[in-house]
Amino acid sequence: MAKVKVIFNCLECGTEHNKWSGQCSDCGAWNTLEESVNTTDKPQSPRFKGYSGEQAKVQTLSQINVKDEPRFPSGMQEMDRVLGGGIVPGSVVLIGGDPGVGKSTLLLQSLCQISLERPVLYITGEESPKQVGLRGHRLGLPVDKLRLLAETSVERITAIAGIEKPSVMVVDSIQTTHTEQLQSAPGGVAQVRESAAQLVRFAKQTGTTVFLVGHVTKDGALAGPRVLEHMVDAVLYFEGQSDSRYRVVRAVKNRFGAVNELGVFAMTDGGLKEILNPSAIFLAGYGEPVPGSVVTATWEGSRPLLVEVQALVDDSSLGNPRRIAVGLDQTRLAMLLAVLSRHGGISTHDQDVFLNVVGGVRVMETGADLPVLSAILSSLRDRPLDRELLIFGELGLAGEVRPVPNGMERLREAVKHGFKKAIIPVANAPKKPIEGLTIIPVKSVQQLIDNLF
Ligand code: TYD
Ligand code: MG
Repeated sequence: MAKVKVIFNCLECGTEHNKWSGQCSDCGAWNTLEESVNTTDKPQSPRFKGYSGEQAKVQTLSQINVKDEPRFPSGMQEMDRVLGGGIVPGSVVLIGGDPGVGKSTLLLQSLCQISLERPVLYITGEESPKQVGLRGHRLGLPVDKLRLLAETSVERITAIAGIEKPSVMVVDSIQTTHTEQLQSAPGGVAQVRESAAQLVRFAKQTGTTVFLVGHVTKDGALAGPRVLEHMVDAVLYFEGQSDSRYRVVRAVKNRFGAVNELGVFAMTDGGLKEILNPSAIFLAGYGEPVPGSVVTATWEGSRPLLVEVQALVDDSSLGNPRRIAVGLDQTRLAMLLAVLSRHGGISTHDQDVFLNVVGGVRVMETGADLPVLSAILSSLRDRPLDRELLIFGELGLAGEVRPVPNGMERLREAVKHGFKKAIIPVANAPKKPIEGLTIIPVKSVQQLIDNLF
C-alpha cells in the first residue's frame, strides 16, 4: 500500500520535520515533535484512501437549504432533551465518560430504536459482534435491523459506511479506531485526532449523524475526548458514580441546543431506563434529620433538581486543614469559607471540611453557595436543620446574598415535594405568597446564620 506522507510538527514552534528527532532543530525544544499527516495535498492526492465525497462550492447563505433539516428522535426522550430536541442529520456527537458507565449500552439501546425507522450502523472496536448481540438480545431490544461491523480502520469504516449509507452511525470507541496514514499506535493523540477528523468529514459530506464514543482517562484525559471537543458539534458527558445506579448525560457543548441540559437514567439489570421526572431522586431517604445535611433546588438546563448537600466539619490534625468537595467546585468552597470567616465571624481554619452532593450529581451553579455554607454551619455546630427547609442562593465576596435565575420555579418544585420553609435571596422572594411555604428572605451571610436554627 502506498503511504501518505507523514510529517512531524513541533508543538512549540510549529516547524515541519520530515523525520522524528528528540529535539526540534528550529527552536531547540525537547520532545515536542508529534506525528501528523501532511494535509496540504490530501483531497487531490490519488493515493489518499480516506473518504473524499463531493466537491464543495461557494454559496450565499440564502442559497443554503435550511428547511429539510428536520430533527429525528433518538428513541430516548432524555437523550433528545440533551441534544436539544432530537438528532440533527449530519451532526457529530461525542459521548465521553468513564469506562463502564454505560456508554455502549446507551447507544445500543438508542440505535436499536432508531433502526425501526431508518438505516443505522454500529461500529464496534472494543467488543466482539457476539458480545454486542448477546447484550442486545438480553435487553430485549429490537435488534433485527441493526447493522453491525467490527472494524477499527477508519478508512475501511468510511468506505463501508459509504456503501451502507446509514443515517446514524455509532463508532465505539474513537480510541480504538486508527488511520492507516499514521504509524503510531491507536489511542494516541495523533491517531485519535486524525481518525475523528476523517469521520467528521464523512458526516458532513454524506449527512450521516455520527456518534463517537470516547473514554475519559482519570488523569486529565490525555488521548481522550478532550482533543476532539472543538471538532465535533456536540459533546455529551455520561456521568455517574459506580455505587449509584443513576446516570446523568450532560451536554457541555452543543451547536444545536442549550448546554447544561441534563438527561437522567437509571442503570438496571434490564439496561438503562429513562427517568422522565427526576426532580427528587437524589434526595437521600432517611427519617431522622442529621447535622450537616441541606436540601437545595438547583437549576439544570430547563428544569429544577432537588439535591442534598452534605458537609462534615471535623477538628484537623494537619497544619494545612483539608477542604475536599465531591460534586462541587473546590475553589468555590475555599472562597465560601473565607466569606464565612470574614463576614460571618465564624472561622474554620483549624477544621477539616468535607463536602458531598448525594447521589453522584455535580452541581456547577452558584445557587449552591448558601446551602453549602448552611451544611457546614450545621455540621460545625452539630445541629440538624429542619427537614422541611430548602435553601438556595449565591454569595458574593462582600458577604452579600445574590439572586439566582428561575427562583420561582425552584420554589414551586420545593412545594411539590413537601417543603414548608425556604431560605432564599431577598431578590428571589416572590411578590405573592406561595401557599404552604414560608419564605425567609436573606440579604447577607450574617442574616443566613441568624435564621438557620
Ligand atoms: P457499558 O455500556 O459496557 O459501559 P461503557 O461502554 O461505558 O464502558 O456498561 C457496562 C456496565 O453497565 C457494566 O458494568 C454492567 C452495567 N450494566 C448493567 O448494570 N445492566 C445492563 O443491563 C447492562 C447492559 C450493563
Ligand atoms: Mg463500551
